[in-house]
Amino acid sequence: MSKTTLDKLLGIQYPVIVAPMFLISNTKMIKAALTHGVTAAFPALNYRTDQELRDAIKEIKSFTDKPFGVNLIVNKSNLKYKGQLETLVELKVDYIITSLGNPGEVIEKCKPHGIKVFCDVVDLAYAKKVEQQGADAVIAVNNRAGGHAGKLSPKELITLLTENCNIPVISAGVVSLMAKI
Ligand SMILES: Cc1cc2nc3c(=O)[nH]c(=O)nc-3n(C[C@H](O)[C@H](O)[C@H](O)COP(=O)(O)O)c2cc1C
Repeated sequence: MSKTTLDKLLGIQYPVIVAPMFLISNTKMIKAALTHGVTAAFPALNYRTDQELRDAIKEIKSFTDKPFGVNLIVNKSNLKYKGQLETLVELKVDYIITSLGNPGEVIEKCKPHGIKVFCDVVDLAYAKKVEQQGADAVIAVNNRAGGHAGKLSPKELITLLTENCNIPVISAGVVSLMAKI
């Protein structure tokens, strides 16, 4: 089965996400990425209040209609999860990147609104689970990724996922060195 690619999935020029970084991503960074043909996402937790999160999304939306995403921590360590999900759905961000937990509820709530859900995964079992739940793409977090890294090498993980999943696979980790691996 031929898979679509990130650029076609989002209608952008290059299939690249400027990845969400806790305490680092900001609206300036997102706007710069969107201006240059790629997409970008920021962690919802970079904003302490719901109002600040709303203001950031509205600021980007008033700057451009290019697609951007928000990263949502979906395990119980994120005490703001429910409210953040409601806000992201209400303001209709283009996609949500889920990390560190079960994305089932996010997928269920986003689908009816056409919001795409890309799920961080570190192995095939988890990738197959989120694919079955309706994820639009998996993000292959390999053992060279910054932040919460996986256990498999970029080559092992990407090969495993591209050969066994029917949804697009987005690589996270050591992208700049990929050509040498
Ligand atoms: C400083 C830093 C903060 C990060 N914070 C987050 C985060 O809040 N949420 C998330 O999903 N990923 C986070 N990541 C992971 C990145 O989104 C991305 O998957 C990773 O940086 C890819 O690895 P690379 O930078 O080695 O290519 C973070 C990475 C870094 C380096």
